[in-house]
Amino acid sequence: ADESPTAMRRLLPADLVERDGCPFDPPPGLRQRRGQGAVQPLTLHNGASTWMVTGLDEARAVLSDPRFSSDRVRHPDATHQQAAGQPAPPPGGRTDGMFIFMDPPEHTRLRRLLTGQFTVRRMRALESHIRDIAVEHIEAMRAAGTEADLVPAYALPIPSLVICEMLGVDYADRARFQRNTAIALDSTSGDDERARAGLELYGFIQELVAAKRAEPADDMLSGLIHDADPPLTDAQLVDMALVLLGAGHETTANMLGLGTFALLEHPDQLGALRADPALLDNAIEELLRYLSIIQMGVTRVATEDVKVGDVEIAAGATVIIATPEANRDPRHWNDPDRLDVLRPRTSHLAFGHGVHQCLGQQLARVEMRVGLGELLTRMPGLRLAVPAEQVPLRNEMLVFGVHSLPVTWA
Ligand code: HEM
Repeated sequence: ADESPTAMRRLLPADLVERDGCPFDPPPGLRQRRGQGAVQPLTLHNGASTWMVTGLDEARAVLSDPRFSSDRVRHPDATHQQAAGQPAPPPGGRTDGMFIFMDPPEHTRLRRLLTGQFTVRRMRALESHIRDIAVEHIEAMRAAGTEADLVPAYALPIPSLVICEMLGVDYADRARFQRNTAIALDSTSGDDERARAGLELYGFIQELVAAKRAEPADDMLSGLIHDADPPLTDAQLVDMALVLLGAGHETTANMLGLGTFALLEHPDQLGALRADPALLDNAIEELLRYLSIIQMGVTRVATEDVKVGDVEIAAGATVIIATPEANRDPRHWNDPDRLDVLRPRTSHLAFGHGVHQCLGQQLARVEMRVGLGELLTRMPGLRLAVPAEQVPLRNEMLVFGVHSLPVTWA
């Protein structure tokens, strides 16, 4: 699965992808289609007839129904797009351990092995690492001047270094790992450059698996190697590491970048948060709902005829979850287009739902709590360094956000 802009553009009508005016509201096509039903027919550029689900209950119904499949090998339909921003597929397109694209029971075993590695002790250790990483990067920005691009200086390194911790990447290799990850996942770098970085990353992870097999350490990758019975193959381990990288990197980075942008553009909300830092957890859930960065990236294929809401979905049809709309379903939220950090907490769809619901959500919450919290506390004067209209948006990307966020704190 690649994250090139064309993958989205090629298939979806432009008005469902490109924002106009407000960078935080769903694209205009989604807003115009409001009131046209919680499950709507949608014809893609390649002529395929699909269904788009805009209602929260209907989206949950699809995502918790085993008759809808995530399997891209059994259902290689071009319209069945990749979820959660996967990096380029390994050479040969194998999917040995790409459990995000599998159905139970294969999915169940691999997912359980990984959740078993998210122990309370490891999560605590990660939290203190995240704080160190955040503070160190804030100090580096300050030391370098009074302006920075928050994306490369802060939002990208945090999840990247957290994944290094999880996989047990040596300190000496981290700069190379980070550089290649950033290039491989960045659609603004050239195709050749991305392919080269992707291959290098793939080779790097293969070497890492071999190294952890030979000499296990106290990291999740070593845990996966040594706890699984029957053991996982090298191909499965490499794929699982790539799933973590693909699902945990761009997502968190864009929540940090776009989340900061949204708060800076809503000074009343930022003020409320600064006045009462205890609101931070609530604010994060509200930002997840309001920003819904996985735009139209969660998809399924019906394996049987299924009725969803009052629509009959035929076997073989692709269903696209319109997360930005489902998270603004007026049946669930009052005044859903408003960012309101005081809003009572209601469960949203930003982490998906059902058996594939985000496996890293607790970690993502810690990264956001620490990442946003430290930034707001340590940079009280933080503001945009350019007019908001000049902030380049990741419109065409599976994971929405900002390509860069020039800020100043002087
Ligand atoms: C799955 C969102 C951070 C690991 C998902 C899915 C969504 C999502 C919507 C479901 C995909 C589907 O149903 O097809 C997010 C968001 C994040 C985030 C918005 C940040 C704010 C992370 C982090 C990690 C992670 C930090 C781990 C390091 C995963 C994995 C899956 C997943 C492994 C696949 C689970 C499965 O297939 O069983 N995520 N994610 N995510 N996420 Fe996250």
